[in-house]
Amino acid sequence: MRIAVVGSGYVGLVSGACLADFGHTVVCVDNDNEKIEALLQARVPIFEPGLDELVATNIREGRLHFTTDLAGAVSNAEVVFIAVGTPSRHGDGHADLTYVYAAAREIAGAIKDFTVIVDKSTVPVGTGDEVERVIRKANPVARFSVASNPEFLREGAAIADFKHPDRIVVGVEDDMAKEVLTNVYRPLNLNRVPIMFTRRRTAELVKYASNAFLAMKITFINELADLCESLDADIQDVALGLGLDNRIGPKFLHAGPGYGGSCFPKDTIALARTAQDAATPLRLVESTIAINDQRRRSMARRVIAACDGVVRDKTIGVLGLTFKPNTDDIRESPALSIIQALKDRGAKVRAYDPKGREAAAELLSSDDVYFASDPYDAAADADALVIVTEWDVFRALDLRRLREVMKSPVLVDLRNVYGYTQIEQAGFSYHCIGRPRQASSVATSQAAE
Ligand code: UDX
Repeated sequence: MRIAVVGSGYVGLVSGACLADFGHTVVCVDNDNEKIEALLQARVPIFEPGLDELVATNIREGRLHFTTDLAGAVSNAEVVFIAVGTPSRHGDGHADLTYVYAAAREIAGAIKDFTVIVDKSTVPVGTGDEVERVIRKANPVARFSVASNPEFLREGAAIADFKHPDRIVVGVEDDMAKEVLTNVYRPLNLNRVPIMFTRRRTAELVKYASNAFLAMKITFINELADLCESLDADIQDVALGLGLDNRIGPKFLHAGPGYGGSCFPKDTIALARTAQDAATPLRLVESTIAINDQRRRSMARRVIAACDGVVRDKTIGVLGLTFKPNTDDIRESPALSIIQALKDRGAKVRAYDPKGREAAAELLSSDDVYFASDPYDAAADADALVIVTEWDVFRALDLRRLREVMKSPVLVDLRNVYGYTQIEQAGFSYHCIGRPRQASSVATSQAAE
């Protein structure tokens, strides 16, 4: 099929490259000249494992193209995906749809034959209806259909998520769009991957509901982790016992410093606003947002407590700046609020991240933070070392070397990467999440050690 993808950001680029890899002919469009120039030479502006190779291969095979010429790309396409950004609107937390409607207007002018326009961006319920109105108004004679096809890609695992999804959700208002989208995803082997068709508005809601549910699941386990600390129980065993129930499942039950990233914080707020506007508030989602905000703020207090209540003029090493491993994305990362709070209390911060340094340096000045060259440089002369993001390189640190370079051997492990025995044997004092010393000393939790 001939496919155009409007918006070559994270979602557009991953989707475009994967669709090309399925054998479709794909043109990715962006109005950022520099970005398109780079992509034409197979230089990918974001870090996503496997994406460089996928883009390069599909360019070489002649299936993946890049352009700033939206009209040219759309007029040749049978399907046009809209994958532009939908940031949080300042002030009210609603999704800002300026880019979506601007894209729709431009697409309208370029439609030639029957074209299916697909919203891939996360958009509030009713956006598909509005996109249809915008196109109809701009081009009353155009033959088109608007569909919704939300993405469920995790940063760091986006290619696998696109190629091996749990499900594909498609919202359509007519059979023609249904047939076209079935053909788009046929290479996935639709006997194995469920493709679910529903009305457009329902599909739009599925995306928000999924993200909100996952955010709630994380927030639930985070609150339970606090309870474990009060009750001398072990959160990892609680999560294991809970997750073995098939109705609950083991995923998204890792307690930590609170969820971050470009999706959960933004989408939960947007869903809560939509629900309030519809006079049907989602109280569980509202509480999730509030609890997660508090949690991110409270993480710095844990670090301060581990430093005997004072961090003024102390040096704190921070491992991990990105909101999760295998990405260079620092949006809404818990590390940023922790660093800010430590700075506000007079600490000196040395931070290391395998991929997030560049983005962090745009937000934090070098007066605020020393960007270290490796974990041991971050730990140099430190009064405490904090693991904020569970990058693999932090899972097997040379503890003896750390002990030698640090001023005092204190490890605050906000991702529960290590266990008491291992860390204490290396001469550290150890602080983690939801695993009080007592509870963790019994046999069942040795799996974590
Ligand atoms: C998420 C959704 O998973 C994806 O389907 C959607 O399309 C976009 O949003 P992403 O934001 O890339 O993807 O990352 P994800 O792996 O879901 O993690 C989000 C946040 O939750 C991270 O801050 C992560 O550290 C945190 N998290 C995740 C936990 O704290 N505990 C967990 O058990 C899982």
